Amino acid sequence: MVLASVTCSAPVNIAVIKYWGKRDEKLILPLNSSLSGTLHQDDLKTTTTIVASESFTEDALWLNGKKEDINAVRYQNVLNAIRSRATKLTDKKHFVHIASINNFPTAAGLASSASGYCCLVFTLAQLYGVDGDISAIARMGSGSACRSMFGGFVKWEMGQKEDGSDSVAIQVQPEQHWPEMNIIVLVVNDKKKETSSTDGMQKSAATSVMMKERCAVTVPQRMKDIEEAIKNKDFETFGDITMKDSDDFHEVCATTTPPIYYLNDTSRYIINLINRYNKASGSIKCAYTFDAGPNACVYLPKDNVVEVLSLFLKHFPGQDISTYYRGPKENIAAIESYQPPKNLQSLFSPETTFDSLKYILHTRVGPGPIVLNESDSLIDNTTGLPK
Ligand code: DP6
Repeated sequence: MVLASVTCSAPVNIAVIKYWGKRDEKLILPLNSSLSGTLHQDDLKTTTTIVASESFTEDALWLNGKKEDINAVRYQNVLNAIRSRATKLTDKKHFVHIASINNFPTAAGLASSASGYCCLVFTLAQLYGVDGDISAIARMGSGSACRSMFGGFVKWEMGQKEDGSDSVAIQVQPEQHWPEMNIIVLVVNDKKKETSSTDGMQKSAATSVMMKERCAVTVPQRMKDIEEAIKNKDFETFGDITMKDSDDFHEVCATTTPPIYYLNDTSRYIINLINRYNKASGSIKCAYTFDAGPNACVYLPKDNVVEVLSLFLKHFPGQDISTYYRGPKENIAAIESYQPPKNLQSLFSPETTFDSLKYILHTRVGPGPIVLNESDSLIDNTTGLPK
């Protein structure tokens, strides 16, 4: 018999101060605090349904329709942590079936573990009636997942305690604070298999000479400065810190033994293009950041969107704009007919064209996890299986 069923959705987040390195591998406690923007779920989200039933014979999990091993240690850590704080379903023997899907291709290399673990923990917390902070539980699934627990701008305080109880996510500003903040993701064509974040950061922490200074001095200062910049909606400072931290993070990777390279030629072309564009403009109009892969996430105020998209489309033209540009359709005409001011004209007439991007995704800062309706359920209550 089905005892309870809950469906929720949760967002992706993109760090502007990067988390890289753990002081505790099991609890997933970081070596530095980090800060991110939450991306809007209209464009990128994970949806998860969890059903509890007395007739299930085991806990089970399906990701995008494929059965996964729920005995994997990170899933078990999360499930046990939630169940130890349960206020509901405590009196009946039961198991849970979990189905989870992303509305974006996992292969695109966008942070699916963050939205995935956040959604799993948030949905479990609804099912089991867990109150109080649950970001520390999401953190045990994947560090960056804790920051997806809130909308807007979110910091993950590294904390000091050994049990990790103070290593939690805190909302710095809600999504309504800076609604003009947009994000363009340039999804780069790349076939190479990357070093996972988990492995990469472990190697950097053990070998990169840059780590000590980064954790002790650079990041603490940047955390203060970027929080202030967000509060004041000061894009110049926000963008400057964002690009510096991305550059430093990839320098940490390059000074790891053996070196780790996440950026490819297209990523470096984008870095160069954005730096030239900002310089020619006389101010920071957009800011790039790269995670453990070649895709560029570009933060920018809404007012610069048409110009920046038009610049990107000049350098990386697509075949069919209606599928290549995934954003508000009403922008397309303005982007295509955009005439740059004189000082930018040379940048808008590149010599070469590339087949370097899969597509361009345009989104904005958005809200945290959401409880959905029974009609959104991904599980058929009669069979207990994904629909
Ligand atoms: C480069 O959260 O994926 O995206 O905690 O081992 O699961 P684990 O790592 P993960 O690392 C994310 C690293 C990053 C930077 C960031 O999101 O802060």
